[in-house]
Amino acid sequence: SRRTSRGWGPAVRGEPMSSDLWRDALSRMLARVDQTGRSVTQGFPHFADPATGAWTTSPAGDWTGGFWNAMCWLAARSTGETRYREWALRWTERLRPRVHSDTVFRGFLFYYGAVTGALLLNSALAREVALAGARGLAASYNPRAEALPLGSDAEEASDVGTGEANVDTVQGGALLLWAFRATGDPMLREIAVKHALRHIEFCARADGSICQSASFDPETGKMLRRYTHKGIHDDSTWARAQAWGIVGYTHMYQWEREPRFLEVACGAADWWLAHAPRDRVAFWDFDDPAIPRTSRDTSATAIVTASLLKLAELAPSEAKRREYRQAAEETAAALVRDYLTPAGILTHGCYNKKIGLAPQHELIWGSYYLFESLHVLAGRLAPTEI
Ligand code: GLY
Repeated sequence: SRRTSRGWGPAVRGEPMSSDLWRDALSRMLARVDQTGRSVTQGFPHFADPATGAWTTSPAGDWTGGFWNAMCWLAARSTGETRYREWALRWTERLRPRVHSDTVFRGFLFYYGAVTGALLLNSALAREVALAGARGLAASYNPRAEALPLGSDAEEASDVGTGEANVDTVQGGALLLWAFRATGDPMLREIAVKHALRHIEFCARADGSICQSASFDPETGKMLRRYTHKGIHDDSTWARAQAWGIVGYTHMYQWEREPRFLEVACGAADWWLAHAPRDRVAFWDFDDPAIPRTSRDTSATAIVTASLLKLAELAPSEAKRREYRQAAEETAAALVRDYLTPAGILTHGCYNKKIGLAPQHELIWGSYYLFESLHVLAGRLAPTEI
């Protein structure tokens, strides 16, 4: 039987959550955006030491660079300050060489890194770079497998190439759906929908939990195995697999009203809510026997917070919409109360526990999803605007 981390930590239900809380947290995170924009001159911010705030950068953006761009686009839109727009444009320009990287994570890079600029500020540069990224990604589609494979440059994964799949790639379908709307090319839509449907077979378990990865035969498309790159073992539920599944299928439904996507998103969100600790902040893997003496992953929790805010608009019944909104508010409040420093650093993200890489750090994507969530909670962004 499955272990559960549910019992740990004090419940947060019933705590007062006022707009002051969200506004104060946002202004702290905005100060951190300023510090990051001024201190990082080469490459992209990747993860940071929470004690010093010093960033480790990735030279070309790895799979994470787009999240920094998205923070700049969002800051530019919500403050109107030109420096954020200048940073957003500068880092979007830096994404161009990645159009031809053989990695499915062009989905993250170009959706967050460029589509957000087209959506929020109608930036022509962002639109052009986003379309180039979408075309590059679509070219890697395998019609026999009906999937976009990880690709040979999917740098953060241990098994990569033409026969590997990850749930973290479902969100990339939103890049193709946006590009379909921008161009009218039906191939882009078909690839996005088929890729996401195929990943239900690859990664979604019957109980609503999500498995990170699968291998398939690139010639026949047949699924060969399920496994994990970063979870504790192949049958466990790595918190970020669950989170990427929730945001991926939520985004797919947001862009393409296919009921199956909403069903998977809600099933995975319900599993999360049933298994997350009482204090709402997940441990890095739901099946780590060392819980509670192990790492949390605030980045997985932030991804889920942003998704719950979307589901609070998209879910089919009023009762579910209310439940998701309440859970999102409580989760955001827990992250802000316990893990956001006065300097606006979201601590205790766990990048890769297995290899000891940034296991208790500030992670750029965790910060992005909390920043997005706070914008929604403060009424500065509609939940499904990006
Ligand atoms: N591969 C994406 C992640 O580590 O969450």
